[in-house]
Amino acid sequence: MRFDVFTLFPAIFDSPLKESILKRAIDAGLLEVYLHNIRDYTTDKHHITDDYPYGGGGGMVMKPEPVFAAVESVLGIRDRGSEIGDRESAISNQQSAIPIILLTPQGRPFNQSVAWELSKFDRVALICGRYEGFDERIREQLVTDEISIGDYVLTGGELAALVILDAVIRLKPGVLGDPGGPLDDSHSTGLLEYPHYTRPPEFRGWKVPEVLLSGNHAKIERWRREQSLWRTLARRPDLLQQAELSDLDRAFLARLEGDRLDS
Ligand code: ADE
Repeated sequence: MRFDVFTLFPAIFDSPLKESILKRAIDAGLLEVYLHNIRDYTTDKHHITDDYPYGGGGGMVMKPEPVFAAVESVLGIRDRGSEIGDRESAISNQQSAIPIILLTPQGRPFNQSVAWELSKFDRVALICGRYEGFDERIREQLVTDEISIGDYVLTGGELAALVILDAVIRLKPGVLGDPGGPLDDSHSTGLLEYPHYTRPPEFRGWKVPEVLLSGNHAKIERWRREQSLWRTLARRPDLLQQAELSDLDRAFLARLEGDRLDS
């Protein structure tokens, strides 16, 4: 999978891409990350990428020209805005096989199902902003999607791009050691993950739950499912609205709710 990242600070990506699973994915040819410095696409003497907002007010705004030039040149999109009308240009981008994603706190919320959705593409473009925001024409005419990684404001989109890249690439076959791994993750099942234990069976007097040492796989599966349900009800009850639940799951949850009301 190929990511084209448009940023004013490509060095932010250096060390995360040189460690652990992302490094291994790059070495194995499963991940390609191309970093494009938006400043390289300025045409003025001072390489200016931001300017004052029309209408006044504080903060600076990212200029449209270098962002359009960078993305159009790298993705091979022709500058058709002036030729065929802005609306059609935006529509042709929106039909592009490569999602062009703007990282912004105003975007749709990133979650595991968006990660799965993006993992189906062979190539994704991520645009990282700095300053107070982007010239609105970038939003209207260039990008096909806007994503936020949470309801807080970062100093720029770079960390958000890394979060997305990391969450997406680990879903690609061959990237993780255990091919079934991502299917059991918290959120992939719609529930939080069950607790894990490893050796020793007793540590400082704290024991591993008996059932996990029993060798009874059916019992272990049921215990894990119930732990997931219990944990999700306790920590993220909102997730239960969307989760796929069996009759057995629903009966278990009803029992938990009943116990809570009794105590
Ligand atoms: N840029 C600044 N804050 C952000 C956020 N929460 N998500 C994505 N991009 C951002």
